[in-house]
This record gives sequence, C-alpha cells and structure tokens, in this order.
Amino acid sequence: MKGDLSLVNICRNLETSIIGKNVLYYPCLPSTMITARKEAVYGANEGTVIITGKQTKGRGRMERSWISPEGNIALSVLLYPLVKDLPSLIMMASLAVVYAVRGLTGFSAQIKWPNDILLNGKKVCGILIENNVRGNKVDYAIIGIGLNVNMKMSDFPDIKDTATSLSETLTREFSLAKVTQKLLLEMDRLYLTLRNGVPLYEDWRDKLTTLGQNIRVKSGNALYKGTAELVVSDGSLLLRQADGTLVKIVSGDATLRD
Ligand code: BTN
Repeated sequence: MKGDLSLVNICRNLETSIIGKNVLYYPCLPSTMITARKEAVYGANEGTVIITGKQTKGRGRMERSWISPEGNIALSVLLYPLVKDLPSLIMMASLAVVYAVRGLTGFSAQIKWPNDILLNGKKVCGILIENNVRGNKVDYAIIGIGLNVNMKMSDFPDIKDTATSLSETLTREFSLAKVTQKLLLEMDRLYLTLRNGVPLYEDWRDKLTTLGQNIRVKSGNALYKGTAELVVSDGSLLLRQADGTLVKIVSGDATLRD
C-alpha cells in the first residue's frame, strides 16, 4: 500500500468544494511548502493541494527539519482566507487531522498546543502554517501537514521515543490515497464551516491535551514555565506562572515539565 499515492487515486470520487479541487502530485519534492508558495505567486486557485510521496528538505516549525520518507503524507494547502480567519486555520487543520484519524482508525488523537497531533501521547502529525499578509489583506496562507502513516519507527531511532505513526499504533498499513482523501474531506468541511462564520474554537479547545499541564514554553528567545490555564479564541495560550501572573503566549513550543 506504500505505493498507492498517485493523482488518480487521490482524486478518484473526491467530492470536495474547495480544498482538493486542484491537486498537484509529485513523487518527490524538496518541500511542499516551497512549491505551494510558487503556486501562490502564480495565482493558483484557492484550495490547491500540493502533495508528494517524499520530501528531501521537509520543514518543521521553529526552523527544524521534518523527516518525510515514503509511506507518510506530506502536503500543503493553499488558501486565500480573510485576515480575521487566520488564527482559526491552525484550529481547522488540527481538527481535520483529529477527525480524519478518528474516521480511519476509531482512535481519538489529541492536540498539543499549538500545532502537534498526538496518538497515545506520541506525535503522529505536525502542522506548519505560513501566511503572507499585506496590511489588512492576506496574499495567501499555506497549511503544511506532515502525517506519519506507514512509518516504521524502529527505522528512525532519533524520534522513535517521541513520535509514532498510524501503522505503528494500529499495527497495520494504510492506503495513503485513502488517508489523504479523508484528510482533504475533513479540511474542506471545516474550512466551509469557518467561512460560514461558525467558530471552531470550542471544539479545538476541548481536544487540547495541554490544558492543566505543567509546561515550559519556548517563544522566540523567551522561555516561560507554568500551568497551561486556558486558550483563547485567537489560539493564544494563557500560562499561570509560579509568581501567580498570567502570561499570554501567541506562539511557541510547549514541552511537559517533569
Ligand atoms: C512541525 O511539527 O514542526 C511541523 C511539521 C510540518 C511538516 C509538513 S510536511 C508538509 C509540509 N512541507 C514541509 O516541508 N513541511 C510541512
């Protein structure tokens, strides 16, 4: 099943309204984010999906690299949202992954603030969002999703203690085309929900595993420690620090404190 990712298989009977109406499939790319940005500059349609069988220079958040071998899903979706909807894109993408995983496996994945999807406490998916905003207008937004599907974790000793894949957790292989289709369907559904003015915030908040936990958060050059108390509707985290003060963190990288 490793080899079933192709344009035909992804698009077969795929009934979406925006996301996935235009799919560009490449067997191998440096990074779907780079290709998506080029497509944005050319003015590609909203909802264009760039998907590849493997990446040679996969990009993660905070300038990290993203391991992206054959057997996983690496895709970017190009959108032209309103400025007011930008903070909801991460909620939309995270929820789409959670619903897709549930539909495909029956397992409830959890969201680790801000961008990680966990399965049994290990990272199964990472999301990277790159926006280009000029004044009050969004030129484009690109949502990059890396989902570990048929990844054999013993082949990746550096990450096997903290990361997992669908096949590792469910002990069976998955059709990459079917997983992609499910993911695109869920993204399309949630993007339409968002465009219709229905907030995704509460559903996203309720699926966060981070709240109530003692964490440290790296945000830019700053390091914060405290208890994750709340997330607000723009996606920011409110962290209660040891001295009792509450700090609002817009973006960062959270890790559990021992
Ligand atoms: C993270 O957790 O650090 C985010 C990882 C995002 C990886 C995806 S894979 C598809 C897209 N292309 C990339 O180069 N990165 C994103």
